Amino acid sequence: MAAYEYETHEYDVVVVGAGGAGLRATLGMAEQGLRTACITKVFPTRSHTVAAQGGIAASLGNMGPDSWQWHMYDTVKGSDWLGDTDAMEYLAREAPKAVYELEHYGVPFSRTEEGKIYQRPFGGHTTEYGEGPAVQRTCAAADRTGHAILHTLYGQSLKQKAEFFIEYFAIDLIMSDEGECQGVLCWKLDDGTLHLFSAKMTVLATGGYGRAYFSATSAHTCTGDGGGMVARAGLPLQDMEFVQFHPTGIYGAGCLITEGARGEGGYLTNSEGERFMERYAPTYKDLASRDVVSRCMTMEIREGRGVGKDKDHIHLNLNHLPAETLKLRLPGISESARIFSGVDVTKEPVPVLPTVHYNMGGIPTNYWGEVLAPKDGDDNRVSPGLMAVGEAGCASVHGANRLGSNSLIDLVVFGRAAAIRAGEIVDPNSAVPSPNMRSVEMALARFDGLRHARGQVGTAELRLEMQKTMQDDAAVFRTSETLSQGKEKMEGIATKLSDLSVTDNTLIWNSDLMETLELANLMPNAVATVVAAEARQESRGAHAHEDFPDRDDENWRKHSLTWFKGEEQKANLGYRGVHTNPLTSHNDGGIDLKKIAPKARVY
Ligand code: FUM
Repeated sequence: MAAYEYETHEYDVVVVGAGGAGLRATLGMAEQGLRTACITKVFPTRSHTVAAQGGIAASLGNMGPDSWQWHMYDTVKGSDWLGDTDAMEYLAREAPKAVYELEHYGVPFSRTEEGKIYQRPFGGHTTEYGEGPAVQRTCAAADRTGHAILHTLYGQSLKQKAEFFIEYFAIDLIMSDEGECQGVLCWKLDDGTLHLFSAKMTVLATGGYGRAYFSATSAHTCTGDGGGMVARAGLPLQDMEFVQFHPTGIYGAGCLITEGARGEGGYLTNSEGERFMERYAPTYKDLASRDVVSRCMTMEIREGRGVGKDKDHIHLNLNHLPAETLKLRLPGISESARIFSGVDVTKEPVPVLPTVHYNMGGIPTNYWGEVLAPKDGDDNRVSPGLMAVGEAGCASVHGANRLGSNSLIDLVVFGRAAAIRAGEIVDPNSAVPSPNMRSVEMALARFDGLRHARGQVGTAELRLEMQKTMQDDAAVFRTSETLSQGKEKMEGIATKLSDLSVTDNTLIWNSDLMETLELANLMPNAVATVVAAEARQESRGAHAHEDFPDRDDENWRKHSLTWFKGEEQKANLGYRGVHTNPLTSHNDGGIDLKKIAPKARVY
C-alpha cells in the first residue's frame, strides 16, 4: 500500500452531510457553543434536500382545524403500524415548533391572505383520526420548499460559526476496538489530500440510497454513504425492505412532480380518461397515501389501461387548474414538465410513472438520533459517539411507508433533536478521543485497494447491473420468485466489488474513484433491501408481496435488522420489537392509544 499522509482535525461534533437534517443538526450544535464541523461531498445548497418540492408537515391549523394528535394518527396509519410510537409522537408534537423556528430563521414560506404560513393538502393527511376530510397541513414555499429551507439553514449555520469542509468525501468511520465512533477519515476531492476528523460525536446525515435503483427521483449523489460506512463498521441497518415509490415521477426522466400538484387539485387518469383513484380510495381518492396510489397506478397499467403508445404510464391532469394557481403555487413543476416531457401543464396532462423516491429504512436510531446497536437482548442499546439523522437514519418514524411532507419535517425535528441531545452528552471541556490507529489503517487500506483496483469489471457496468436488478426484482409489487431471484442475483453482483477496475488512480477530482467508493456504499444498502424483503412474508406499507397480500401483525410487526461482517457482502438478518409506548400518557395530554390501535388501512 502507498504511504498516505493526512491532516488531523479535532472537533466536539462532526456532521457528515449538509442536507436539511445535517444543516439543522450543525446549526443546533453550533448554537450551543459546540465546536462543529460539517463535512459534505457537494456544496451544501446542492444537497438533495434542494429538490424537495411540496412542503413540510406540521399541524399549524392555519387553513382549518388540526392537531398534533391527528398528525400522529395519520403518521401511524401511514407507517402501516411499523413506526415506533415514541418517535412518531415526538415528530408530530415538535413539528409546529420546528416550523416556526424555520420561519424565524428566515424561510420564505408562501403566505395566506392574512399573512400566515400557507398550507396545502397532501396524501394521507386527514382530520378526526381519519374520519374527517383531508387537512391542509403541508407548509409550502411554492413548490421549492426544500430549496428555501436549505439556503436558510446554511446561512444560519455560517452565522453561528459552524465550520464547513466542502467537497470532502467521507471514506470510513473510525471506530475504537470497543465500538465507540471516534470520527471519520475523508478525502478532499479538489486537491487529493486526506483528512482525519476526530470528534466526540459523529452525526451521519448522508441521505438515502435511491441510486441503488435504475429510475429514481433522488440525485445521483444519493448513494447511501452513511449506510455503507455503518455496514462496514459491523453495525446494523433497519427496515431496508421498505422502499417508497412516488406516484408521479416524470415518465422517462424520473424527475419529481410534487404530490402538491394533486394537493392543489390535480388528478390521475388512465387510457379511458377515468379518474381511477375514485374506485380504489373512495374517500381520499388521489390524496390516498402514496404507496396506495403507486400500487393503483401499477394495477391500471398491468390491466391494459396505461396511456401512451406502449400503454405503460398514467396521466396527471393539471390543465383544469387556474393558470394563476399553477404560476403561484406550482411554478417549479410547470417548468420541469416543460423541460423533461415537453408538456405545457396549462394545456396537456403530464405523463407520469411511480418512481423510487425514499428509503424508509436506514441506520437504526432512537428519537434523539443516537444510533442503536442491539446486543445481548438489549434492543435499545446505544452505539457510543454516533448519531444518524434524516433519510440516512431510521428513527423509526415512517415505519413501512412515509407520508408525503413528513420527510422535511423529519429532517428538521430530528436534526434539532440530535443537537439537543448532543448538548446534554457532549462535554466541550473533555478531551477529543485519540483515534484507533488500527481503524485508520483499515480505512486507508480500503481506499488504496479501490484506488488501485485492477480487476475485470468497470464501476459503471457493475452499478448498472445492480440498478437493473433492484428495479426488476425489488419493485412496487414483489413475489417470492422475484425476491429470491433478486437476492441470489444481488449477492452475486456484490461479490464483483472485489473484481472492480479503476482506470484513474490520481487523487485530484478523480470521479472514477469517487463513483467506485459510492458504488461500494450503495451495494450493502441494495443487498440489505432485497434480503430483508425476501424474508418478510407479509404485505405492509411499501412492501407489497403478492404471495402474502395481507399484513400479519402477529408474526411481522417487527423491525428487520441487517448486518454485514466487515467487507463481506452477505447479509445476516435479525429483528427488533416495535416501540408501542407513547411518550405521554393519555391522562397527561397524550394520544388515546385506542385511536392508534392496529386496524385495516383504507383511505
Ligand atoms: O411530492 C413531494 O413534494 C414530495 C414530498 C415528500 O416526499 O415528502
